[in-house]
Amino acid sequence: MSKRFAVILAAGQGTRMKSKLYKVLHPVCGKPMVQHVVDQITKLHIEEIITVIGHGADLVKSQLGEQSHYVFQEQQLGTAHAVVQAKDLLEGKEGITLVVCGDTPLIKAETMESLFKHHEEQSAKATILTASIENPTGYGRIIRDENGHVEKIVEHKDATEAERKINEINTGTYCFDNQALFKALSNVSNDNVQGEYYLPDVIEILKKQGDTVTAFQTDEFEETLGVNDRVALAEAERIMKNRINEQHMRNGVSIVDPSNTYIGPDVVIGQDTVLLPGTILKGNTTIGSECMIGPFSEIEDCEVGDNTVIRQSAAFKSSIGSEVNIGPFAHIRPDSSIQDEVKIGNFVEIKKAVIGKASKASHLSYIGDAEVGADVNIGCGSITVNYDGKNKFLTKIEDGVFIGCNSNLVAPVTIGKGAYVAAGSTITNNVPGEALSIARARQVNKENYVEKLNLKK
Ligand code: UD1
Ligand code: CA
Repeated sequence: MSKRFAVILAAGQGTRMKSKLYKVLHPVCGKPMVQHVVDQITKLHIEEIITVIGHGADLVKSQLGEQSHYVFQEQQLGTAHAVVQAKDLLEGKEGITLVVCGDTPLIKAETMESLFKHHEEQSAKATILTASIENPTGYGRIIRDENGHVEKIVEHKDATEAERKINEINTGTYCFDNQALFKALSNVSNDNVQGEYYLPDVIEILKKQGDTVTAFQTDEFEETLGVNDRVALAEAERIMKNRINEQHMRNGVSIVDPSNTYIGPDVVIGQDTVLLPGTILKGNTTIGSECMIGPFSEIEDCEVGDNTVIRQSAAFKSSIGSEVNIGPFAHIRPDSSIQDEVKIGNFVEIKKAVIGKASKASHLSYIGDAEVGADVNIGCGSITVNYDGKNKFLTKIEDGVFIGCNSNLVAPVTIGKGAYVAAGSTITNNVPGEALSIARARQVNKENYVEKLNLKK
């Protein structure tokens, strides 16, 4: 097999997006477009991935990190000029170079693999990935001769009326013989409507010098969508979302209303889990099997075990065990660890806290900066007082503790194993294990006192 290289074009501003955010960083299903492209390319056996950056260079670089090498295109003079920037890294190397635009987020590794295969089988110097689409407006058109051989690509803006009627488009993805590519690039001119150096012109240059130029047409026309404006962005979002949802359903996940369920591309979900409407799963989230998520739950960067229920709740950057019951209306904030069989109920907020096995905070609580042991019961309305206006302090609640309703645990404080805090207490000192702690004013009943108040008319 020949050596493979890849060049990703990602230097453009994306004027048509009308955005402060550079085009290739606009997210589709929560992931920047260029990241989608790179994630697919890394599945192929590529020696060297080079991303051409320009507008928003630092941001693109920090997004992709070590996954790519970078070359800088100072002025965006066109797609051919963009590829030329990789000259120092690639020119002279023997192999096949894949060129992909950073604004085609739906392209799949399988399709690019087929493109490579076709290119090799045809011993071509260039192979264009094409698609036949209903509305080709804006795309470059594939011009073929009377025998059906590819002749050239004409950009929409440069095309004649007749050429604009052609439905076969350039998807912006190509395979080139690396050496032939860089030789041809030096002959590309900017003599066209946009005054740009067009990469597609390489096709005609190679063809004219007698090289084999082919096209590989994909049926998966939805994959080839180039996102130039927000209308196309929404279209890409819809297609990607359906693709992701369908994959999970095929893997044994029930999605009750796919049109109202939003799953990020890197989310993993176990079999027989049911997703109810309004569920949003983002980032690096893993959900186990036989869970019930939603309705209306948002979960980001969490690891969730099996058989867990999360209803009408939000959870971020936390781990949640198996057989856990969360919600409705709970908020699990970052760095929390909710262990197996825990119950986090109505209007409970957890922040940076460990909640040990089978413990319960069923109603109206705030537990922040806390280590809660196993089998603890936190009564309705109890809170950790973790903040003195300047610093945060730790609350430790050991195994088997019972916290009565509406208690304030003023941190730093430890409630020892098996202790019992009476309802309404404000605890400011440590409570020894097995002790009963009452920290509230004693009740006084003044018999027949109301009469003396003389309030009654
Ligand atoms: C391009 C193709 C067109 C094809 C379409 C597919 C050209 C001239 N036209 O058109 O035939 O049908 O893609 O989606 O190639 N870029 C740079 N540097 C530049 C110019 C562009 O890095 O100087 C990058 C952009 O950031 C973008 C990609 O190249 O990611 C494509 O550029 P864009 O302006 O979107 O090209 P299209 O007009 O869509
Ligand atoms: Ca484009």
